[in-house]
Amino acid sequence: MRITNLKPLISEEAIQTRVKEMAGEISTLYKDEPLVVVCVLKGAFMFFSDLVRHLTCKPELDFVRLASYGSAAQRSKTITFTKDVEIPLEGKHVLIVEDIVDTGESIEHMIKELEARNPASVEVCTLFFKPGSYRKTLPIKYRAMEIGNEFIVGYGLDYDQLGRSLKDIYVVTE
Ligand code: IMP
Ligand code: MG
Repeated sequence: MRITNLKPLISEEAIQTRVKEMAGEISTLYKDEPLVVVCVLKGAFMFFSDLVRHLTCKPELDFVRLASYGSAAQRSKTITFTKDVEIPLEGKHVLIVEDIVDTGESIEHMIKELEARNPASVEVCTLFFKPGSYRKTLPIKYRAMEIGNEFIVGYGLDYDQLGRSLKDIYVVTE
Protein backbone atom coordinates (compact mmCIF):
# COMPACT_ATOMS: atom_id res chain seq x y z
CA MET A 1 0.00 0.00 0.00
CA ARG A 2 1.07 3.58 -0.60
CA ILE A 3 -0.19 6.84 0.78
CA THR A 4 -0.96 9.34 -1.93
CA ASN A 5 -2.57 12.76 -1.38
CA LEU A 6 -0.15 14.26 1.13
CA LYS A 7 -0.23 18.01 1.68
CA PRO A 8 2.85 19.59 3.35
CA LEU A 9 1.96 21.13 6.72
CA ILE A 10 5.07 21.66 8.89
CA SER A 11 8.70 21.68 7.77
CA GLU A 12 11.58 19.78 9.32
CA GLU A 13 13.20 23.16 10.18
CA ALA A 14 10.12 24.39 12.07
CA ILE A 15 9.99 21.15 14.05
CA GLN A 16 13.69 21.29 14.93
CA THR A 17 13.38 24.90 16.15
CA ARG A 18 10.52 23.94 18.51
CA VAL A 19 12.27 20.77 19.69
CA LYS A 20 15.33 22.79 20.76
CA GLU A 21 13.16 25.35 22.56
CA MET A 22 11.31 22.62 24.46
CA ALA A 23 14.55 20.85 25.36
CA GLY A 24 15.77 24.13 26.86
CA GLU A 25 12.63 24.56 28.98
CA ILE A 26 12.74 20.95 30.17
CA SER A 27 16.45 21.10 31.04
CA THR A 28 15.92 24.29 33.09
CA LEU A 29 13.00 22.77 34.96
CA TYR A 30 14.47 19.42 35.99
CA LYS A 31 18.12 20.53 36.39
CA ASP A 32 19.87 17.77 38.39
CA GLU A 33 16.72 16.05 39.69
CA PRO A 34 16.46 12.31 38.93
CA LEU A 35 14.51 12.11 35.68
CA VAL A 36 13.34 9.25 33.46
CA VAL A 37 12.25 10.31 29.96
CA VAL A 38 9.86 7.72 28.53
CA CYS A 39 9.34 7.37 24.77
CA VAL A 40 5.95 6.09 23.62
CA LEU A 41 6.67 3.76 20.69
CA LYS A 42 6.41 3.81 17.81
CA GLY A 43 5.20 7.31 16.94
CA ALA A 44 7.43 9.35 19.26
CA PHE A 45 10.75 7.75 18.31
CA MET A 46 12.07 10.58 16.11
CA PHE A 47 10.85 13.39 18.36
CA PHE A 48 12.29 11.59 21.40
CA SER A 49 15.70 11.04 19.81
CA ASP A 50 15.96 14.71 18.77
CA LEU A 51 14.62 16.02 22.08
CA VAL A 52 16.89 14.03 24.39
CA ARG A 53 19.98 15.01 22.39
CA HIS A 54 19.30 18.65 23.27
CA LEU A 55 18.69 18.06 27.00
CA THR A 56 21.46 19.41 29.19
CA CYS A 57 20.13 17.53 32.23
CA LYS A 58 21.25 13.88 32.17
CA PRO A 59 18.08 11.75 32.25
CA GLU A 60 17.65 8.00 32.15
CA LEU A 61 15.77 6.88 29.04
CA ASP A 62 13.14 4.19 28.66
CA PHE A 63 10.47 3.03 26.21
CA VAL A 64 6.86 1.85 26.34
CA ARG A 65 4.55 0.57 23.68
CA LEU A 66 0.77 0.68 23.91
CA ALA A 67 -1.86 -1.42 22.20
CA SER A 68 -5.44 -0.22 22.06
CA TYR A 69 -8.45 -2.33 21.21
CA GLY A 70 -12.00 -1.25 20.42
CA SER A 71 -13.73 0.10 17.35
CA ALA A 72 -14.16 3.77 16.62
CA ALA A 73 -17.87 3.28 17.30
CA GLN A 74 -17.14 2.42 20.94
CA ARG A 75 -16.39 5.66 22.74
CA SER A 76 -13.79 4.08 24.99
CA LYS A 77 -10.86 1.87 24.11
CA THR A 78 -9.06 -0.81 26.09
CA ILE A 79 -5.43 0.18 26.37
CA THR A 80 -2.59 -2.06 27.56
CA PHE A 81 1.21 -1.89 27.63
CA THR A 82 2.76 -4.38 25.22
CA LYS A 83 6.16 -3.15 26.37
CA ASP A 84 6.60 -1.68 29.84
CA VAL A 85 9.35 0.53 31.27
CA GLU A 86 12.32 -1.40 32.64
CA ILE A 87 13.82 1.29 34.89
CA PRO A 88 12.35 1.59 38.42
CA LEU A 89 10.43 4.91 38.63
CA GLU A 90 9.96 5.22 42.37
CA GLY A 91 11.03 8.64 43.67
CA LYS A 92 12.10 9.87 40.22
CA HIS A 93 10.50 12.44 37.96
CA VAL A 94 8.93 10.94 34.84
CA LEU A 95 8.47 12.76 31.54
CA ILE A 96 6.33 10.91 28.98
CA VAL A 97 7.21 11.82 25.39
CA GLU A 98 4.29 11.31 22.97
CA ASP A 99 3.89 11.99 19.27
CA ILE A 100 0.34 13.31 19.44
CA VAL A 101 -2.43 13.73 22.00
CA ASP A 102 -5.79 13.44 20.24
CA THR A 103 -8.77 12.40 22.43
CA GLY A 104 -6.39 11.89 25.38
CA GLU A 105 -7.44 8.26 26.02
CA SER A 106 -3.93 6.85 25.55
CA ILE A 107 -2.12 9.50 27.56
CA GLU A 108 -4.61 9.32 30.44
CA HIS A 109 -4.10 5.58 30.65
CA MET A 110 -0.34 5.99 30.61
CA ILE A 111 -0.27 8.71 33.27
CA LYS A 112 -2.39 6.55 35.60
CA GLU A 113 -0.23 3.45 35.01
CA LEU A 114 3.02 5.28 35.65
CA GLU A 115 1.68 7.20 38.67
CA ALA A 116 0.99 3.83 40.30
CA ARG A 117 4.76 3.23 40.42
CA ASN A 118 5.21 6.06 42.98
CA PRO A 119 7.35 8.47 40.95
CA ALA A 120 8.11 11.97 42.27
CA SER A 121 6.03 13.41 39.40
CA VAL A 122 4.61 12.53 35.99
CA GLU A 123 4.43 15.11 33.19
CA VAL A 124 3.73 14.87 29.47
CA CYS A 125 5.65 16.33 26.55
CA THR A 126 3.80 15.92 23.27
CA LEU A 127 4.92 17.01 19.83
CA PHE A 128 1.36 17.63 18.66
CA PHE A 129 -1.83 18.45 20.54
CA LYS A 130 -5.31 18.52 18.97
CA PRO A 131 -7.31 20.90 21.22
CA GLY A 132 -10.45 20.27 19.15
CA SER A 133 -10.54 16.55 20.00
CA TYR A 134 -9.09 16.47 23.54
CA ARG A 135 -11.77 15.02 25.85
CA LYS A 136 -9.83 14.75 29.14
CA THR A 137 -8.99 17.20 31.89
CA LEU A 138 -5.46 16.09 32.81
CA PRO A 139 -2.98 18.86 32.03
CA ILE A 140 -0.54 18.31 29.16
CA LYS A 141 2.37 20.44 30.33
CA TYR A 142 4.59 20.57 27.24
CA ARG A 143 2.96 20.87 23.81
CA ALA A 144 5.33 21.64 20.96
CA MET A 145 2.59 22.45 18.43
CA GLU A 146 -1.20 22.61 18.29
CA ILE A 147 -3.03 21.48 15.15
CA GLY A 148 -6.63 21.15 13.95
CA ASN A 149 -8.52 17.90 13.55
CA GLU A 150 -6.67 16.86 10.39
CA PHE A 151 -4.82 13.52 10.27
CA ILE A 152 -1.07 13.98 9.91
CA VAL A 153 1.92 11.75 9.06
CA GLY A 154 5.69 12.08 9.04
CA TYR A 155 8.50 12.52 11.60
CA GLY A 156 7.50 9.25 13.27
CA LEU A 157 3.72 9.55 12.87
CA ASP A 158 2.00 7.01 10.63
CA TYR A 159 -1.11 6.20 8.69
CA ASP A 160 -1.46 2.39 8.85
CA GLN A 161 2.32 2.17 9.47
CA LEU A 162 3.16 4.33 6.44
CA GLY A 163 4.72 7.78 6.43
CA ARG A 164 6.84 7.44 9.58
CA SER A 165 10.17 8.00 7.84
CA LEU A 166 9.23 11.36 6.27
CA LYS A 167 11.26 14.31 7.57
CA ASP A 168 8.42 16.85 7.37
CA ILE A 169 4.78 16.69 8.51
CA TYR A 170 2.00 16.18 5.95
CA VAL A 171 -1.79 16.13 6.12
CA VAL A 172 -3.43 13.00 4.70
CA THR A 173 -6.08 14.53 2.47
CA GLU A 174 -8.03 11.54 1.13
P1 IMP B 1 -5.76 9.38 21.66
O1 IMP B 1 -5.73 8.19 22.58
O2 IMP B 1 -7.11 9.57 21.00
O3 IMP B 1 -5.26 10.65 22.29
O4 IMP B 1 -4.85 9.02 20.43
C1 IMP B 1 -3.50 9.13 20.48
C2 IMP B 1 -2.86 8.22 19.45
O5 IMP B 1 -3.63 8.17 18.22
C3 IMP B 1 -1.53 8.80 19.06
O6 IMP B 1 -0.51 8.35 19.93
C4 IMP B 1 -1.38 8.32 17.64
O7 IMP B 1 -0.82 7.03 17.63
C5 IMP B 1 -2.78 8.27 17.11
N1 IMP B 1 -3.13 9.49 16.34
C6 IMP B 1 -4.06 10.41 16.64
N2 IMP B 1 -4.11 11.39 15.72
C7 IMP B 1 -3.16 11.08 14.80
C8 IMP B 1 -2.71 11.72 13.59
O8 IMP B 1 -3.17 12.79 13.15
N3 IMP B 1 -1.70 11.10 12.94
C9 IMP B 1 -1.13 9.93 13.37
N4 IMP B 1 -1.52 9.30 14.47
C10 IMP B 1 -2.53 9.87 15.19
MG1 MG C 1 1.02 6.97 19.43
